[in-house]
Amino acid sequence: MDLTVNLAPHHKTELRLRNPIMTASGTFSNGLELAKYHDVDALGAIVSKGTTLRPRRGNATPRTAETAAGMLNSIGFQNIGVSALIKTIAPVWERWDVPAIVNIMGETLDEYGTLAARLEGVPGVAGLEVNVSCPNVEAGGLEFGQVPEQAAAVVREVAAHSTLPMLVKLTPSVSDIRPIAMAVEAAGAQALTVTNTIPAMAIDVRTRRPVLSTGSGGLSGPAVKPIAMRNVYLASSVVDIPVVASGGAMTGLDVVEFVMAGATAVQVGTATFLDPAAPWSILAEFEAWCAAEGVTCVDEIRGVARRRD
Ligand SMILES: Cc1cc2nc3c(=O)[nH]c(=O)nc-3n(C[C@H](O)[C@H](O)[C@H](O)COP(=O)(O)O)c2cc1C
Repeated sequence: MDLTVNLAPHHKTELRLRNPIMTASGTFSNGLELAKYHDVDALGAIVSKGTTLRPRRGNATPRTAETAAGMLNSIGFQNIGVSALIKTIAPVWERWDVPAIVNIMGETLDEYGTLAARLEGVPGVAGLEVNVSCPNVEAGGLEFGQVPEQAAAVVREVAAHSTLPMLVKLTPSVSDIRPIAMAVEAAGAQALTVTNTIPAMAIDVRTRRPVLSTGSGGLSGPAVKPIAMRNVYLASSVVDIPVVASGGAMTGLDVVEFVMAGATAVQVGTATFLDPAAPWSILAEFEAWCAAEGVTCVDEIRGVARRRD
């Protein structure tokens, strides 16, 4: 069985993963903690915490809450900032075999470009995941990822400053993901991550106020899986670049489902909050399913749900 996948098949530096299981940004920190207990090199790739130009302290607590079938978070992009990441985290990644992808987020086009430039040529960094789910403060506050032209502008800005393979992480907060997926592909992205969390809220009946300090937050976990599934199915049917699924993967069978919908790889996020070993157990389940079904490579089942023949 050969489960390797390539997230940048058309790019000069390919992004080869030994298997399709990745960690999801913000749910695995920068990997250093879990690496003490588990073999990170067994995974396909790891994705960093959302990284900004300057360090951010994040939002006030409470900033996570449990819901019936998932979780809400409004962490507010707490992170150490790109300089500290380059200085203290990347040298550790360099000693690992697993590709480390830096998730970046800017508040302006310029910031995206600066972040890309800072990460160019940094040993230990194998690729970028560009989070376009951030309000464009210079253009009325709609998220970059909600407007095809603005999402494309971010991709061009990053590409102008970077030779690294670029995944673009799309927002589910759109009526149709296809025009955004196509615009981002045309602008030069090597792969798409589909998708981020879904805006949502919970009320504490005791305090009669929203549970999260910020009011609303992002919903993730099993509740969002069918929504992510549809978006993976739709996006992968209109682009020729790999689609990475993100949203509610909890088991190896969820991975099978996402691949059948058209995903090349699958990120594991909220599952890690239930069981820090989830990425590894999901990988083992996926491998066992492939062995039992006689599936020898990911491409054999990728997108089969979309075929009409
Ligand atoms: C606590 C938490 C923090 C997150 N932080 C980020 C982030 O910094 N950048 C980002 O692009 N996505 C972030 N996400 C979104 C996840 O990477 C993932 O796309 C989403 O949670 C859906 O996948 P899941 O259901 O497997 O968790 C975060 C999610 C959670 C739960």
